[in-house]
Amino acid sequence: MKYAHIIGWGKYVPDRVLTNHDLERMIETTDEWITRRTGIHERHIAGERETTATLAFEAAARALAVADLHPSQVELIIVATSTPEYIFPSTACRVQDYLGAIKAGAFDLSAACSGFVYGLDMAAQAIATGSVRNAIVIGAETMTRVLDWEDRGTCVLFGDGAGAVVLKGSNIPGGVLASTLRSDGSGGDLLSLPAVYHNPVPTLGPEYFHNGHKRNTIAMDGRQVFRFATQVIADSVHETLRKANMTLEDVDLIVPHQANTRIIEAAAKRLKLPQEMFYTNVQWMGNTSAASIPIALCDAVKDGRLQPDDNVIFVGFGGGLTWAASLVKWNVTPPDVSLPRREWRRARYVYARGRSKMKRYGRRFGAWIGGSPTPDASLKDGDKKSRENDL
Ligand code: UT7
Repeated sequence: MKYAHIIGWGKYVPDRVLTNHDLERMIETTDEWITRRTGIHERHIAGERETTATLAFEAAARALAVADLHPSQVELIIVATSTPEYIFPSTACRVQDYLGAIKAGAFDLSAACSGFVYGLDMAAQAIATGSVRNAIVIGAETMTRVLDWEDRGTCVLFGDGAGAVVLKGSNIPGGVLASTLRSDGSGGDLLSLPAVYHNPVPTLGPEYFHNGHKRNTIAMDGRQVFRFATQVIADSVHETLRKANMTLEDVDLIVPHQANTRIIEAAAKRLKLPQEMFYTNVQWMGNTSAASIPIALCDAVKDGRLQPDDNVIFVGFGGGLTWAASLVKWNVTPPDVSLPRREWRRARYVYARGRSKMKRYGRRFGAWIGGSPTPDASLKDGDKKSRENDL
């Protein structure tokens, strides 16, 4: 039995910041309302050329640098996201290509804001069974691209970003000790994001979805989700500790999904734990859905909130409904990687992009020589050009 240890972590958030005061100029809201009801002061917004895949790649590259692992050693890449640019190719495949992780399987995981914890458990199980030795789990989102900017009940809440961890198999006990994954599809209507190909509702017009919300944007019953969240955080933390034969007294830090400081306060009360046991950075990030826990983890490490041998719990909740918790022993000290070595690693990614382009051209050339149409020959000229540039 192998233990899946976290040996690297990295986050990437876009440079552009949108403050509550900026939002005051866009919609009918106030900094006072947003701060009092959510704790959020600002959030990051992806730039025009940034995508969920580019954010995910940056976070993964940083996590690999901390782990001092070569991309070719990675055997599994899981990207938890609700905002992929494509249904396929998956965001994970694009990250695989950007990294040059030539021996990795890659797939996306859809469990909304619980996605990172789901992914962590999937990767830990793959390591425990001996199926893979190393894995990267990423939570990455461009939530601001699926918001209805006229719906003040949701557009003030979300932000963009990505966080990643590298997992490595070891015979030393520790790492991911226990997890609890749960779902309740009956609550699917409380928090939803329709797929682009969902049938339009003729009576409302093509712009709208059946519940009156704009198509391809988030719809949420905030109060109901709030109530659900405060219940399941406590339940899943207890259940996970029970599986590991531990109690709350053994826990050093809880890194919850960052949706609202009031949810975290209510969960702390329910668990009878001091607020300081919960790490929060929602104030500066907003709700970044699947990315929120790994981003918060990186900030917690930077703030010195995690020491070797600490027990940390990640707990997520969100659309589906889904919720999940993982208990991790934080007992691997990362190697001290020199700056030149890190820079050298970055150069490898430029090489990976070049090699990917060469493979693509090679395929087209082979098809041309063989006289067969290329896979995208059926696309119209405009579509073809934009996809070539994009992918
Ligand atoms: O990651 C996915 C999980 N999602 C969550 O965890 C979100 C959970 N829910 C929440 O965090 C909270 O329910 C919200 C922050 C979304 C809303 O807070 P609330 O205290 O539940 O407010 P509410 O929806 O009950 O609305 C209260 C009032 C309403 O006005 P009336 O009807 O009382 O006159 C809203 O129209 O606040 C109004 N309101 C706003 N006012 C100013 C709603 N949004 C805004 C706004 N600015 N942005």
